[in-house]
Amino acid sequence: MILVTGATGHVGAELVTRLAAEGVQVRAMTRRPEATRFARGVEVVEGDCEAPESLRKAFEGVEGAFLMTSQATGSAKLHTAVQVDAAKAAGVRYVVKLSVARGGEEGHPLVAAWHREDEGAVTESGIDFTMLRPGRFMSNTLGWKHMLARGDTVYVPFARKATTPIAPEDIAAVAAEALTTDRFKNEVLELSGAEVLTPEQELAIVGEILNRELTLEEPSVEATIDGIARSGMDRGLAAAMVEHVLQGSYGAEIWPTVERVLGRKPMTFQQWAGKHFKEEA
Ligand SMILES: NC(=O)c1ccc[n+]([C@@H]2O[C@H](COP(=O)([O-])OP(=O)(O)OC[C@H]3O[C@@H](n4cnc5c(N)ncnc54)[C@H](OP(=O)(O)O)[C@@H]3O)[C@@H](O)[C@H]2O)c1
Repeated sequence: MILVTGATGHVGAELVTRLAAEGVQVRAMTRRPEATRFARGVEVVEGDCEAPESLRKAFEGVEGAFLMTSQATGSAKLHTAVQVDAAKAAGVRYVVKLSVARGGEEGHPLVAAWHREDEGAVTESGIDFTMLRPGRFMSNTLGWKHMLARGDTVYVPFARKATTPIAPEDIAAVAAEALTTDRFKNEVLELSGAEVLTPEQELAIVGEILNRELTLEEPSVEATIDGIARSGMDRGLAAAMVEHVLQGSYGAEIWPTVERVLGRKPMTFQQWAGKHFKEEA
C-alpha cells in the first residue's frame, strides 16, 4: 500500500490518479474526505498534520508514502516531522518527500534554514527516501483564472523573475517512479521544466491560447509583502520570502532530471497551459 498525503493538491491528485491507473494499491489522505472524489479503487483516509494522532490510521499498513502539505514556510511545528513520526511508528520503509528547489542550500537565511530543517526531518529519520526539489509549479498560474473570469487585467507578482516552471504532472510521474522502483533510494532529485520563462511570458502564452489581449500589472514589492502578510504570515518572514524569491538565479536552473527519470522531455508551458486553460477559450 502506498499513502499519498496532500492527495487533493496539484501534485498529489496527479500522483493518486497515476498510481491507481498503474494498478498500485493507493491510499489518499485529505482533511476533507467527504468533499473529494478519487479514481475507483483508491482508499480515502482522513488525516490532518495539525492533529498528529489522526495520522496513525493513515500510515497503518503502508510500505511507501509521498509526503507533502502546503504548510506556510516558517511555520513553527513542521508537518513533515509529524508525518515522519507517523511513518516511523507504522514501520513505513520508504518515503518520497516534496521539497523545494535547492532545499535550503541557498537563498534568504531565514527561509533556507526552514527548508533545511524540513528536509532534515526526512533525511535524518533513518527511513529510505527520495527528495524531490522542484522549482516553480506551472499550476501557480491557475490563480489567474479568477481574474480572467472578470476581465483582461491580471496582477502577477514577480512578473519578470525568470524560472524554469515544471508541470505538476511531471513531478507526479517522477514521484510515482521513485515510489514503485528502487532507482532513486536516498537520492536528491533537483527538478525543472525544460525552458526558462518569466510569469510575463507565461501570461503571453495563456493570452494566445485564449485568443485574448491580456494586460499584466505587477504589484510593487511592498504590496506583495503586504499581501503575504495579510494571509497570516509574520511581516518579517513575508519580506524574507519575497527577497528569497527575487534574489539570484534561484529556481532558474534547467535540470535534466525529468528526462533522466522518465525517458522523455518535460511538458512545456504551452502544452500544460493548453490542457488547463483550454476550457476558458
Ligand atoms: N507552488 C510552487 O511553485 C512550489 C514550488 C516548489 C515546491 N512547492 C511545494 O509544494 C507544496 C505546496 O504546493 P501547493 O501550494 O501548490 O499546494 P497544493 O497542491 O494546493 O496542495 C495542498 C495540499 O496540502 C494538504 N494540506 C494542507 N494542510 C494540511 C494539513 N494540515 N494536514 C494535511 N494535509 C494538508 C491539502 O490537503 P486537504 O485535502 O486536506 O486540503 C492539499 O492536498 C509545498 O510543500 C511547497 O513547498 C511548491
